[in-house]
This record gives sequence, structure tokens and C-alpha cells, in this order.
Amino acid sequence: MFTKAIVRTPSQSLVKGITTASLGIPDYEKALLQHSDYISALKECGLEVTVLPADDNFPDSTFVEDVALMTPRCAIITNPGAPTRQLETISIRPTVNQFYNTVETIEPPGTVEAGDIMMVGDHYYIGLSERTNQNGADQMINLLEKHQLTGSVVTLSEVLHLKTGLGYLENNHLLACGEFLSKPEFQQYHLLEVPIEEAYAANSVWINGTVLTPKGFPKTLALIQALGYKTREVDVSEFQKIDGGLSCLSLRF
Ligand code: GLY
Repeated sequence: MFTKAIVRTPSQSLVKGITTASLGIPDYEKALLQHSDYISALKECGLEVTVLPADDNFPDSTFVEDVALMTPRCAIITNPGAPTRQLETISIRPTVNQFYNTVETIEPPGTVEAGDIMMVGDHYYIGLSERTNQNGADQMINLLEKHQLTGSVVTLSEVLHLKTGLGYLENNHLLACGEFLSKPEFQQYHLLEVPIEEAYAANSVWINGTVLTPKGFPKTLALIQALGYKTREVDVSEFQKIDGGLSCLSLRF
């Protein structure tokens, strides 16, 4: 179970966030409203939410998930692979320190963005992506093992982060899309195939029995509801325009 979450208010510079999408420029006022509803959804799942102030120096800083990995035993501050995001770690550290006695750090030349990390119990799958390199993944696995946790790497080539195409819903259920459907390491799970036209919804998030899903993806919503999960749709269209998903918008622990 999770009890807490950290989020960061979107900054006005959000409109300059890194993107590969061609969905247009985010509407800042709409993004603020959507972020507020996202916080409401986290609270509905029983989380106590710490809201950090907007940081206009970093357009992508609302995607707090990428800059730290919060485990039950320690927190690990990452070193984002996107050069414009690397200094986001400085401003998240004091907040992470408030909640954890043990805080580890990924050091250069290693890079890791925790959007590339999917937790399944005590095991952490780490995607090797354009943002997370082998050195960073090796450091992450060593740190996890130091705290009696385990990690393994997953290659990916089609999406930004591992969790862009995967969402673990607990109870062995794994949402998967595209290249992840055929990966040998995921065949042990009950794979829920997210249709390619709804690929964005693979990044749905289990929180204490409820699954948050992005609004507007009815086939994926039906797949999840058919398993008996309570669901909560959240409209995150303005964040989708800059390659951000539901999970990226919070640290949950
Ligand atoms: N815009 C989200 C990211 O690229 O990190």
C-alpha cells in the first residue's frame, strides 16, 4: 500500500517541455486544472500529497517521477538522461530527505530516469532507453541489492520510458503495449494487451486497489474494469502533448 505522494505544480515553461508528440502546445491554464484533478485522484486513493511549487527553470519538472525512485527501504535520486532535466534532482532532494533516512544517488556517467523503472514487489525492471543507460542501470541494481531488493534490465526501442508501454496493476496483471507484449521476461504475467491506438493508456497506475487511467481510452478502461478494479479517469491531455503520462506526475511511496 502507498500512503504518500509528491507532486510538483506545472510551471508556465511547461509549454517548452521536451516532446516527440505532434499534439500541439499545452494549454497552461488547462494543465493546472488537470493537475489539480490529478491531486484529487491521488487523495481519493488515500494518499497524503505533498505539493511542491512550480519551477519555471525546468519545463519538465512537473514529471517528478523521473528524478527519484522511492522504495520501501530507501530512496534513490536519479541522474536524468535528458540534459535539461539533470538539475531537477537538486530541488527534489530536500523533500525526499524529509521522508527517508537513507537516500542514495546515481552518479555520472550513469543516467537513469525512474519513468524507466517498474516495481513488481521487491523486483525492479529497469528499461534501457535514450534516458537510462547501462551504467546507470548497473548502479541502480547495485543500490537495490544493497537494500535487499533486486533489479534487472529490459531493452526498449519504441517508446520514451519503460512505463510508457507498461503498467503493473498488481495481482500478476500487467498492461502492455507494442514491443513489450513479446518480451520473454513478461510472459510470466497475465498480459493485458493495450490496443496500439490506445498506447498512451498503458501508462495507467495502480494505487491501493484503484487504477488511475488517462481519460479517453475506453478499450483499455474496459480491460481493467473487467478484472474487477475500481478505476478513476484523469484527463491529462495537456501533459500527453509533452510526452508525460499519469505515472510521471507523482512519486508514490
Ligand atoms: N517531456 C517529458 C520528458 O521528455 O521527460
